[in-house]
Amino acid sequence: MSSAVYSLQGVSKEFEGPAGTVHVLRNINLTVDAGSCVAVVGASGSGKTSLLHIMGTLDNASGGSVLLDGVDLETLDNTRRARLRNRDIGFIFQFHHLLPEFSTLENVAMPGIIAGRARSESLALADEALNDVGLEHRKSHKVTTLSGGERQRAAIARAILMRPKVVLADEPTGSLDEESGRMVGELLVSLARNHGTTLVVVTHNRDLAGLMHQRHELRSGELYAC
Ligand SMILES: Nc1ncnc2c1ncn2[C@@H]1O[C@H](COP(=O)(O)OP(=O)(O)OP(=O)(O)O)[C@@H](O)[C@H]1O
Ligand SMILES: [Mg+2]
Repeated sequence: MSSAVYSLQGVSKEFEGPAGTVHVLRNINLTVDAGSCVAVVGASGSGKTSLLHIMGTLDNASGGSVLLDGVDLETLDNTRRARLRNRDIGFIFQFHHLLPEFSTLENVAMPGIIAGRARSESLALADEALNDVGLEHRKSHKVTTLSGGERQRAAIARAILMRPKVVLADEPTGSLDEESGRMVGELLVSLARNHGTTLVVVTHNRDLAGLMHQRHELRSGELYAC
């Protein structure tokens, strides 16, 4: 039996723009093994976010297939996609998307509450996840008062709350200085190792990519091993 968590075959993505069709991804083939940490690097506009959104069920491919644990994402209805996104996929967005009116603890607890867990249980899980990312001293703070690195660590805590099978991280160190970026990168890899989670990071940061076990590069919409 294959240990692939993700299997992408011939994935393409096109957007229709005013100047015609934009081919963003072409014939992408990618296998991500369970427990591995994989980086996809590429210049700005090379399609990294588009690829990650397709893998995270936030968008559909124009062609080809994406299997997650052997299940073709195209075959899932909206309810099953939402459940999968909530329970099996932890997404760290390019711009962290924390909710400004809530505390750090409440933000991190959100996937638990959405999954229908009791508020107290969700907050207890969030408490644990914030300890895991070294933010125990910032739990009751409003997220707007956190530094950039702290916000990114809160976003990581939220992504791992439900102990998902995979964590998909979109430029997780994009807004950070070199030192905070390195710490966040190392944190992601160590959490993946400790929890047995599969990690896919898309980034233009070659140092961050260097921390992963496997690297691929997007160029002109095509994926190359590197
Ligand atoms: N909804 C959309 N409609 C039309 N074009 C889009 C859409 N989303 C993305 N694109 C185009 O697809 C290309 C790839 O975008 P994408 O956001 O995937 O790049 P990226 O590699 O993540 O870039 P960055 O490093 O700047 O975040 C870009 O040229 C972008 O303009
Ligand atoms: Mg992007």
